[in-house]
Amino acid sequence: MNRGPVGVIDSGIGGLTVLTEMIKKLPSEDFIYHADTENAPYGNKRHAEIMGYTDNNIAKLLSLGCKAIVLACNTATAAAVEDMRIKYSSVNIIGLEPALRPPLYDFPDMPVLVLATPLTLAEKRFTRLRSELEADSGKKFYCVPAQEIVEYTESPSRQRQKLINSLKKLLHPYESIRFPACVLGCTHFPLAKPEISEALGYMPRYYDGGNGAAKRLAFLLARDGLENDISRRGKVIFTSQEFSYRAGQIMLDYYNKER
Ligand code: DGL
Repeated sequence: MNRGPVGVIDSGIGGLTVLTEMIKKLPSEDFIYHADTENAPYGNKRHAEIMGYTDNNIAKLLSLGCKAIVLACNTATAAAVEDMRIKYSSVNIIGLEPALRPPLYDFPDMPVLVLATPLTLAEKRFTRLRSELEADSGKKFYCVPAQEIVEYTESPSRQRQKLINSLKKLLHPYESIRFPACVLGCTHFPLAKPEISEALGYMPRYYDGGNGAAKRLAFLLARDGLENDISRRGKVIFTSQEFSYRAGQIMLDYYNKER
């Protein structure tokens, strides 16, 4: 039986949106959060680089005794999850995928907007899923790379209007379409929902993978008998103390907004 922590990885603060969901669902578990700020951002880098960073990050968290790994990053998942599951086959690795399926059920005849990093949208793992779902549903996903949202959410001096203007420019080609659904295919993006809505000029229904990842983690821990005793209260440890100060505030704000 392994009562170690769950390791959570992102390039920065984005994975905190996933961590929030996991703490809600699994309050007895311990988590170690690693923000790879040294190599951030990920979304505009090359496949091989993200593969290397992800490999190092997983090795680091396993050396700290983690019993499961959550890639709380769509970009790292798209680039590396398949190879990492082969390399580290003795541990469950949960990935984050753009949540393309749920809006297909909720809005079968309506257009769906997908925002993600350039690398996620270019990766085979995403293009495969997208074409399969487009073929099955006869529907087209409107995919827009929006790396600027990552830089904005990470920046200490958030220039809100500058982000809104640049999103407006990005979305200009789709101005005539009203999207009832918007998939946030990067874990940083839920932190900028108000800015995205302002750029669109309306508030679509947002979809992200945080809750799905938390459910999947709960399922795998239960399946493999790896859950912590439910009478205990879990804790979160950050691999960087400096990062932990920022993280606490960001999670509290996010948790309160999402309730
Ligand atoms: N949060 C990450 C994602 O979900 C990566 C963002 C970045 O570093 O560019 O894609």
